[in-house]
Amino acid sequence: MLKQKNILLGVTGGIAAYKAYALTSKLTQSGANVKVVMTSSATKFVSPLTFQALSRNPVYTDTFDEKDPQKIAHIDVADWADIVIIAPATAHILGRLVNGIADDMLSTVLLATTAPVYIAPAMNVNMYKHPAVIHNMKQLEQWGYHFIEPGAGYLACGWIGKGRMEEPESIIEVINNHQKNSNLLAGKRILISAGPTREVLDPVRYFTNRSSGKMGFALAEAAANYGADVTLVTGPVHLQTSNKRIKRIDVISAEEMFQAMHKEFPHNDIVVKSAAVADYRPKIVYDEKMKKKDNGQVEIEMERTKDILASLGENKAHQFLVGFAAETTSPLEYGEKKLTEKNLDAIVVNNVSTEGAGFEGDTNIATYLNKHLEQDEIGLSSKRKVAENVLKLIMRDMKGE
Ligand code: CTP
Repeated sequence: MLKQKNILLGVTGGIAAYKAYALTSKLTQSGANVKVVMTSSATKFVSPLTFQALSRNPVYTDTFDEKDPQKIAHIDVADWADIVIIAPATAHILGRLVNGIADDMLSTVLLATTAPVYIAPAMNVNMYKHPAVIHNMKQLEQWGYHFIEPGAGYLACGWIGKGRMEEPESIIEVINNHQKNSNLLAGKRILISAGPTREVLDPVRYFTNRSSGKMGFALAEAAANYGADVTLVTGPVHLQTSNKRIKRIDVISAEEMFQAMHKEFPHNDIVVKSAAVADYRPKIVYDEKMKKKDNGQVEIEMERTKDILASLGENKAHQFLVGFAAETTSPLEYGEKKLTEKNLDAIVVNNVSTEGAGFEGDTNIATYLNKHLEQDEIGLSSKRKVAENVLKLIMRDMKGE
């Protein structure tokens, strides 16, 4: 998979930098063209000359060391790369990247590149567990950076725990597997709905639910990374989309989502409805703010919204249609019922009362159930990983049709 690929290896200043020698050598042996960028701290641990000999390419350490007047080195090398690896990645480079700080060659290249970036962290176990580092890794993962988790064991600082950079062979294996999937959805058009809907009562009040949109956005980002053209119809959320392959349509109410989904439906091959659509909305929408009464209760009459997924199921032609079900009791039983009633090809069921699953959080646990009632468990993992697994299962089932 890595043959003829242009790989940019960023080496930062940690003791694990010595393992980057072996990584460079193995990448070169597997047929990749490797260029190395080092931070100045990395040069305290390992030598540019060794990387130059192993990669057979000049090593970059200084943004202002412009050798060729025809080119601007940091942009040139950022554009050259098909894949970027940061190994080892210190807490410092994660902090700089997450804040958009471009104060040396590596951090500048990282902002300029559009290639997929793989990060293999290495640091002391307590640094790895620090909330700032966890926060930075989560944010970067949400932006589409791929992490290669460190292993646990004896650390150079004397502590035993998680923080040891993954071995070069495993890093290459992870990247190989990932690259295999990078065309998984090439040529496919996928329509995804995300977030809650908001059902207005009066100019200051509305009904909504706890959906954050994270699962739908993770699906959109993952699908775009797998080469799909993505349309994301989203209710009101606080999330951003940065991927150019994602066309975003913002809606507020269930009715607006209904209209947007039906408009886009005919042009798509796969449709995933992860939005938490309100089932009811106030029957009367007041133009003026409702005033409270001096005594007694207030009764608000609610009416059903349209079931978007069920109506897509009725109008289904060539599309592979996937629903979501958030349940607190008998998840599979209810999931199966929705699968049949709404004419779906598959449903992703989560038991939202389980710790680590469901609304607002960054993780999920799910069961993917297809129309042949085959079940695949997706264990506790980040919503991004769950999204990748769901998409792989969809492709498996589409190929099997
Ligand atoms: N859905 C929809 N339109 C609605 C309601 C739900 O498209 N008006 C979709 C959701 O996007 C999701 C699936 O249907 O994919 C969820 O099924 P649903 O039966 O509506 O779930 P709940 O509302 O949780 O069902 P219940 O209240 O019956 O448990």
